[in-house]
Amino acid sequence: METSLLPPEVAEAHRTFPAALAACADLDALMRLKGAYVGRDGSHASRLMEALKAAPREQKRDLGAAANTLKSQWEGGLQARQAELEQVRQRGAALAKAWDPHLPPPLPPGGALHPLTRLMDRMVDVFRPLGYHVEEGPEAETEAHNFDGLNIPQDHPARGAADTFYFKDQDGLLLRTHTSPVQVRVLNRIGRRGPDGLSELERSGGIRFLAPGRVYRKDEIDPTHSPMFHQVEGMLVGKGIGMHHLKGTLAYAMKALFGPAAEVRFRPSYFPFVEPGAEMDVRCPLCAGAGCRVCKSSGWVELLGSGLLHPNILSMAGIDPAVWSSFAFGMGVERTAMMVSQTPDLRLFFENDQRFLRTMGGLD
Ligand code: PHE
Repeated sequence: METSLLPPEVAEAHRTFPAALAACADLDALMRLKGAYVGRDGSHASRLMEALKAAPREQKRDLGAAANTLKSQWEGGLQARQAELEQVRQRGAALAKAWDPHLPPPLPPGGALHPLTRLMDRMVDVFRPLGYHVEEGPEAETEAHNFDGLNIPQDHPARGAADTFYFKDQDGLLLRTHTSPVQVRVLNRIGRRGPDGLSELERSGGIRFLAPGRVYRKDEIDPTHSPMFHQVEGMLVGKGIGMHHLKGTLAYAMKALFGPAAEVRFRPSYFPFVEPGAEMDVRCPLCAGAGCRVCKSSGWVELLGSGLLHPNILSMAGIDPAVWSSFAFGMGVERTAMMVSQTPDLRLFFENDQRFLRTMGGLD
């Protein structure tokens, strides 16, 4: 298009036309813009017509063509924008009509407990009728509680800087690598003798508790590892406690958690603070033992470490192992959640994508 013949203010108006059009927020503004561009008097279009009239004959053809192009571009743009604004106005009118001021306002989206929290709560609910209460310990734990008090020797690999997060400036402080230090804290408390010469343990005749919480290990994040995860510790101290009590308790709890068909098996294992020690598997609740991806075709899923407390641990807390005995277990929460919900990637539990959390009904 030949623009050099256009009056400069019209050329400038054409340049700014798209922005001016977009800036029209309602039909009134659009009508004013329409008047300024294509109105009868004083508009850019009428200025073009005057210029055309005054132009020398040899320019009339080119200028006329340019004027037509400009005018039809303006008119087309104005029309399209008018249709848009018309639609907006209609939608607003429909909304205003539908709005009932007597209705209560829409509720904000409701919050919910995280699936891992719900699973831990459920485990606590399963054990509560058996007389268990909840005990807690700090996540920033001492080496004494996390390792020494549990018979874990100085040269044990779990104590290495490659496996454990130590605090740089606080000697002997670390992020706990398991919930078992809560055992040590509770034993120290219930073993201490009061002014009457009796300990809390002697006064109560026994204790049973769960200790759910966060634990930390120096693991790279991958579908089955995270440097932070959750465990639920369980402990019972009483008289004449044996593996049969442990097995009966856990067999009951697994049925309560996974359904009446849940079966458990114990495999001998080693943890420095129990003797004997065992890992407990549950028959895969997804394939009922037939073999699937979750149980890696074995029919069993490893769920927890357990055992009878080593006499040393009781002695260290001032509790006489000839009188008292105890079982303990520690269960991985993420592992259980992954199994129950068939979630193949543990990271989903920490990314907190609401679309994932909303589908976690399997944990209910
Ligand atoms: N604390 C152990 C672990 O994290 C599990 C365990 C708890 C084993 C209690 C025995 C008794 O691996």
